[in-house]
Amino acid sequence: PTTRTYNWTISVIDAFPDGVLRQVLVINEKYPGPMVRVNRGDRVLVNVTNNMPNATTIHWHGLFQNGTNWMDGVPGITQCPIPPGQSFLYNFTVENQFGTFWYHSHASTQRMDGLFGPFIIHAPEEAEYQTRYGYTQDQVMVLQDYYHDLSAAYLPEYLAPGNENTEPVPDNGLIQGTNYCQMRRDITIPANRGSFNCSSYEANSGYTCYDNSSRALFPVEQNTKTRFRIINTGGFATFQFAIDNHTMTVIEGDSTMVEPLELQILKIASAQRYSFVLNANQTAQNYWMRAEMDTNCFFVQNPVLNPTVLGILAYGNNTALPGVESVGWNNPMDPLCEDLNSTLLVPSVVQQAPPADNLFVIQVSFQIGDDSLDLAYINGTSYKVSQIPTLNWILPHLRAGNTTFNQTGAGAPYGLQSQYILDIPDNQVVDILIQNFDDGSHPFHLHGYEFWVMASSQEQYFPWEIYDSLNTTNPMRRDTVMVDAYGWTLIRIQADNPGLWAFHCHISWHVAAGLLMQLQTRDDLMKDWTIPSDVLELCPA
Ligand code: C2O
Repeated sequence: PTTRTYNWTISVIDAFPDGVLRQVLVINEKYPGPMVRVNRGDRVLVNVTNNMPNATTIHWHGLFQNGTNWMDGVPGITQCPIPPGQSFLYNFTVENQFGTFWYHSHASTQRMDGLFGPFIIHAPEEAEYQTRYGYTQDQVMVLQDYYHDLSAAYLPEYLAPGNENTEPVPDNGLIQGTNYCQMRRDITIPANRGSFNCSSYEANSGYTCYDNSSRALFPVEQNTKTRFRIINTGGFATFQFAIDNHTMTVIEGDSTMVEPLELQILKIASAQRYSFVLNANQTAQNYWMRAEMDTNCFFVQNPVLNPTVLGILAYGNNTALPGVESVGWNNPMDPLCEDLNSTLLVPSVVQQAPPADNLFVIQVSFQIGDDSLDLAYINGTSYKVSQIPTLNWILPHLRAGNTTFNQTGAGAPYGLQSQYILDIPDNQVVDILIQNFDDGSHPFHLHGYEFWVMASSQEQYFPWEIYDSLNTTNPMRRDTVMVDAYGWTLIRIQADNPGLWAFHCHISWHVAAGLLMQLQTRDDLMKDWTIPSDVLELCPA
């Protein structure tokens, strides 16, 4: 094991990832943030200096943080945020995990403004998979939806009552943080870009546009195989991804290696990751990679939006463009806002899901709530960031042997009454049934765990007669799964990782509306914890 040290300075800069000038949040002036690549067992030290005007945190999406819950990077839950002008050292070990992960700010909607990047963990077993699948290259692809303003600018209108939870429709999408200027169906960009006229976009949009953007290019050698790790880092959109003339063989979902699944179209929801093997067995030329936003997930259908984001698969040193892009998306659009069905994914390392000791039902809805805002509720509670992290609030109560303390009690700091926390008995195997009474689909992510996806449906009510006959033989294990509109998803965990773990929809707009709850697991271990002093020092005295 090695210690890997990173020094990150976060700042706000003017940039034009797609040619349109706006402010973005960057790490070491990079959009998106730098890649972290480590080996299993490594200690990771990331020294974050916050040079932005707003407080921030960094969350390591998918990492278990076993024994280091205070490094999970969630403001109001596991730490106080890093104030402007201050630094904080994230310090943790990556144990028992390898695969494709990522990191992102967990403060407000900052992730949508650029604070994210890939986090890859290698392990010796990878060599076996590489031999088995015969790939000789490994490339990481970061895919996202994109807006032409800072996310905070959209929040007041989004949360306004009467707007029916109408999420802002993305202006564009990016691959590797780059794309051409705009995504309007009524403006054609020539493939060679030469005569594209930014000023027509400026006149239509009011944004300043520079003729300097590009498209991501992924070089491959003919007759070799490449592993692509694709990460949807976007704040909202689910993508359908395809590559002209090629199929994709999926071998990993959310850091779980799976048996090969050959697909023409890969659906990927916000925060999900997949690896696929691509065989470059076609004529040596270039091909479009097409990532189309699933507009069925949008409340507002924008008739001029062209939701297809393009990248280039380039054979050899061929830098010629694949031809006129107006060939368009040739694949059918899934009429439902859903993710890749988890029952198609079979983990390569077989695990039996143990029988459940307990079942919790959570119900999701949107309603007009506090301050007349249109807010999201989980079992009647709409999440707000607490001033004191719930971890800090709960530990003294656990030490006092008090397990039934009242979060809304007198003197409870701001926001503590807006926490819905499931305190799960130590080490129990529990089922969580998420019932969605909302007309939108929600990619739910659980921190600190991977869960078994036991079943899911687009039917409104869970058919209890199936409960005793669920498939427990090696169900898919992952950390982010879609709960479809007016549907339900049933997940199972073994509650063995001590801490307070956020469980939330990964759409940034929905977290801002309060679609977040927490699991509290292993009180028996937590009660002996002392939070490190440098973590505590972030909190105002
Ligand atoms: Cu990827 Cu709570 O986050």
